[in-house]
Amino acid sequence: MCGIIGYTGNRKSVPILLEGLKTLEYRGYDSAGISVTDDQSVTTVKAKGRLSVLENKLNASEELTATCGIGHTRWATHGEPSDINSHPHSAEHLTLVHNGIIENYAEIGEMLRGVGYTFVSETDTERAAKLLDMFYAKSHDPLEAIFSACRVIRGSYAFGIMFNDRPEVIYSIRKDSPLIVAHESGNGSFIASDIPAILKYTRSYYRLEEGVVAQISKDGVVFYNSEMEPVSQTLEEVDWDVEQAQKGGYPHFMLKEIHEEPEALRKTLEPRIKDGLPHFGIEQLDGEFLAHFTGIHIVACGTAYHAGLIGKAIIEKLARVPVNVEIASEFRYRDPILRPNDLVILLSQSGETADTLAALRHAKAQGIYTLAIVNVIGSSVAREADSVLYTWAGPEIAVASTKAYSVQCSLLYLLALRMTLANRTLEEETVRRICDSMLTKIPSVIAETLKLNDQIYGYAKQIVNAEHVFYIGRDMDWALCTEGSLKLKEISYIHSEAYAAGELKHGTISLITDGIPVIALTTVSKVCEKTVSGIREVKSRGALVIAFAARELAEKYEIPHDELLIIPEIDELLMPFPAVTVLQLLAYHVSALKGLDVDKPRNLAKSVTVE
Ligand code: AGP
Repeated sequence: MCGIIGYTGNRKSVPILLEGLKTLEYRGYDSAGISVTDDQSVTTVKAKGRLSVLENKLNASEELTATCGIGHTRWATHGEPSDINSHPHSAEHLTLVHNGIIENYAEIGEMLRGVGYTFVSETDTERAAKLLDMFYAKSHDPLEAIFSACRVIRGSYAFGIMFNDRPEVIYSIRKDSPLIVAHESGNGSFIASDIPAILKYTRSYYRLEEGVVAQISKDGVVFYNSEMEPVSQTLEEVDWDVEQAQKGGYPHFMLKEIHEEPEALRKTLEPRIKDGLPHFGIEQLDGEFLAHFTGIHIVACGTAYHAGLIGKAIIEKLARVPVNVEIASEFRYRDPILRPNDLVILLSQSGETADTLAALRHAKAQGIYTLAIVNVIGSSVAREADSVLYTWAGPEIAVASTKAYSVQCSLLYLLALRMTLANRTLEEETVRRICDSMLTKIPSVIAETLKLNDQIYGYAKQIVNAEHVFYIGRDMDWALCTEGSLKLKEISYIHSEAYAAGELKHGTISLITDGIPVIALTTVSKVCEKTVSGIREVKSRGALVIAFAARELAEKYEIPHDELLIIPEIDELLMPFPAVTVLQLLAYHVSALKGLDVDKPRNLAKSVTVE
């Protein structure tokens, strides 16, 4: 989604704005722009395309020395990507940038036309700018104008605003879309959509609360509530540095983040296993409160949804509690049946996915207990859920989620194990043994799996020119196949589908012809024989079968294959962890072999903050 940066201080703002926008590129965009102001004049430069286009425009014009400015990378929603639709947008008294979607922008536009305003762009943001301008023209009070405008606006927003007659001051307010505020004494103050944009200058920041206005100047930051009274915000510290947020020597963030999985899992699991048992430090998740949940809904999008499928399998297998896994964008519109003793779990790496946030709010409105499993500290989903379990995977920059998926699964495993204790469906000794294996074996088995990189690279070379790739498996393997297929699709642009192996004969097998690659997963013993039958069916129709199998099953069954990779051994229950790393590496290498933008695939954004 869009990226916002603002700076006011003692230094030229243009280089700071451009550098900040570069760290936000991962959010996905199709145009960019900046506005800088000194005295009463504002200069705006904006352009469709990558940041390099904007930079060229800036270099071609007279150097801008202003020390206050705002910048924006736009992911088009209202109005196609174009120079004129790019942000910042201006009105007579002000200039602003916006991340989010204003749902009632058409009504606002009509009302404004009625009082003489005209528009040059198709964007909802320009209408917000002129709405704010209308209020400011009356009151000449920034706070009053901002709160008045926000009472009219419906939708999501994070605004960065500069009023022409208040040079060197930037105002911000947000709802649904994320925004952080920071000040570094001696340098100046910042607003940004995300932390990497300010990391070069400071590690302390405020996550702006919804409905609070931030007023930043070179001397500091001040916050006001809707009563226009000064309020405080919590100062947070970043516990990772620019280096960590960069590639660390890997060619792509995605490969770095796959290699970070062992550490991410260690960091996420260690604090949650005490005296050998799952321990969340949240009363409701440690006491008998868990035992009263008779149904669970896991709600998420994309990769997080696929982690939910693993969560369903493991919670039902161990805790014997029925689990329904829902795509967040469908959840609230289908008026789901939620009962008082249900638990709704929201899975989200970014914690800002609009569909997931909306699903959370829907569940809460129904009085249902909500648990968020989120990677970004202090994000909207994390803050609004009744409880939150953070996955301490560190920043995940690549659009394709990898380590976040693995740590989400690990917490779902721990939750399942904690529920077995509450429901007495497993002996405590068994729970201890599984917890111990998770802590001691998962990181090391993934490290082992990463050593198979070259073998997996070889498979990638065999499918790099494929038009279609199918993934088949049963039980947990099928859930893993859905994630493997999405990984391949989203970064290599090869069409792919995941199929329950038993479903092939009900239609899909008609698509299997000579040379069609089929990735077959066999790690679940109880269904392996049936899966092998399915593999035999596709192999006999000419498929190129690349099988990933548990050693014991490869030895017990004759798995038809053109290529066979033995997944490093761990308890069968924990096989999803090394297995998904194989699938992630396969997708990564195919994309890299095609020379594609692995970390920033076309049309995709790291955090989909619009519905
Ligand atoms: C994952 O590889 C995709 N980029 C995408 O499906 C992502 O998982 C989805 O948008 C959900 O994002 P979230 O986890 O931040 O909510």
